[in-house]
Amino acid sequence: MPLDIVIGTQWGDEGKGRIVDLLAAQADIVARFNGGDNAGHTVTVGNHTFKLHLIPSGIIHPHTVGVLGNGMVINPSSFLSEVEMLQNAGVQVGPDRLRISFAAHLITPAHRAMDLAQETARGSGNLGTTGRGIGPAYTGKVSRNGLRIEDMLNPVTFMKKVQAHVEEVNQILVGLYHTEPLDPRAVAREYTNCAHHIIPYISDTGLLLHQALQNGQRVLAEGAQGTLLDIDHGTYPYVTSSSAVAPAVYTGLGIGITPVDRVVGVTKAFQTRVGSGPFPTEVFGKTAERLRGTGKNPWDEFGTTTGRPRRVGWLDGVLLRYALRVNGVTELMMTKMDVLSGLTTLRLSVGYKAGDEAYQELPLGPANLSPFEPVYEELPGWEEDVTAVRRWTDLPPQARAYVRRIEDYCGVPVRRVSVGPERDQVVDVHN
Ligand code: IMP
Repeated sequence: MPLDIVIGTQWGDEGKGRIVDLLAAQADIVARFNGGDNAGHTVTVGNHTFKLHLIPSGIIHPHTVGVLGNGMVINPSSFLSEVEMLQNAGVQVGPDRLRISFAAHLITPAHRAMDLAQETARGSGNLGTTGRGIGPAYTGKVSRNGLRIEDMLNPVTFMKKVQAHVEEVNQILVGLYHTEPLDPRAVAREYTNCAHHIIPYISDTGLLLHQALQNGQRVLAEGAQGTLLDIDHGTYPYVTSSSAVAPAVYTGLGIGITPVDRVVGVTKAFQTRVGSGPFPTEVFGKTAERLRGTGKNPWDEFGTTTGRPRRVGWLDGVLLRYALRVNGVTELMMTKMDVLSGLTTLRLSVGYKAGDEAYQELPLGPANLSPFEPVYEELPGWEEDVTAVRRWTDLPPQARAYVRRIEDYCGVPVRRVSVGPERDQVVDVHN
C-alpha cells in the first residue's frame, strides 16, 4: 500500500519538515494527523525559508494536496495567515489543494486564555507549553464539549455555540484563575467571519484519503511534535495533548489499518528539547552553546513557534531505541550532522543506571527519568566542515562510524543524513 509515515523520535524539532519536503516529491497527498499550530516545520528552498505550523510542509511541492486530518486542532486565523504567507511566497494554495477534516476541532481565543491561565497557575512547575491553546482544545474534545470544524457550516448555530463556549470558559477564567474574561460576542463574531473563509476547505478527508489509497496514490503522513511529547508514550506530564506516534495516523486521519511502506523516524544527530521536563543527556556550558548556535541562523536551536532557546544534549540511544519500538520505525533519517563538526569527542547514551542497577530498556517508560543517569559511550569527533559533502564515502570516517554505531545500537538502518538546511544538503547512507 502506498502509505509512508514520517515521525519524530525525540521531543519534536527533529527536522521533520525538511524530510517531509524530501519525500513529498514522490507523494500525491501529504497529511497531518495530530497537533495544531504548536508545531513548527521549517523548509528551506533556495533563499526562501518557510516556517509552517499547521499546513503540511509537503504543500510546497506544487503537485501535492495537503490534508489537515480529524486528529488536529485548528486555529482558523493561523490557518488563513499561513495560506496568505504561502501565496505571498508564490506557492499557489487554495481549497483545490488543501482540505480540512470536518471532524477536526477548533482552537479559540478562550482555549488560548485557558492555556496561559493554567500555565501561570502551575508556577515553577509549568509545562512550558507553546501557549497556543492546544491542551484546552483537546480537553474540550475529549470532554465532548468541543467545537468542530463542521460546526462552521451553520453560521447561526455556530455563532451561538462559540458564544456559549466563551461564556463557559469565562466562568473558569474568572472564578478559578482570577483573570480577565473574554468578550463572548466579539469572539463569536470573529469566528463567524472566519467561517466564511474556512468553509470552502472543509471535506471528508477520511474518504478522500481512502479513495486515494485505493487508487494507488501515494500518501505521506506527516507527524508533528515527537514520540517523547506523545500524550501516552512521552515524558508525561511534560508532553503535548495529542498522539504523536505512528499508529495515531489511522485514527488521526480516519483511515482503516492500511499496510505501510515505510515508517521513517527522524532524529537529530544530538538531542534537543524546548519546554520543561526530564532530559537525562542535557549538557550546559560551552558544548551546549556549540550545539545550540547563537540564534543568528534560522537553523540554530531556537523554537520555530516561540523563539525560545532549546535545551540541548547528547543523543540518547535509550530513548531513541524506545521511540523506534513504539512507532515501528523501519528506517531512520538523521538531521544536523554538520553541527557536530569541531567537537573532539562525541557522547552517545547506550544505557541508564540507577544506583547499582544497569538498564538497557526503560523499566516503566520515559515519564519518570529522574532516578536514571545515562551511561555514555565516547566516540571520536571530526574537525571537517561537512556541509558540502554529498557522498557517503566523502564524510569523515569518524562521522560514518558515529552513524554505524547508532544503527548497530538501535537495530534500524539510517538511510540518510542531512548536512545543512538546503534541500540538496543530504547524503544517502550506503550499505
Ligand atoms: P503544547 O503542545 O503547546 O501544549 O506544549 C506542551 C509541550 O510540548 C511543551 O514542552 C512544548 O514546548 C512542547 N511542544 C509542542 N509542540 C512542539 C513542537 O512542535 N516542537 C517542540 N516542542 C513542542
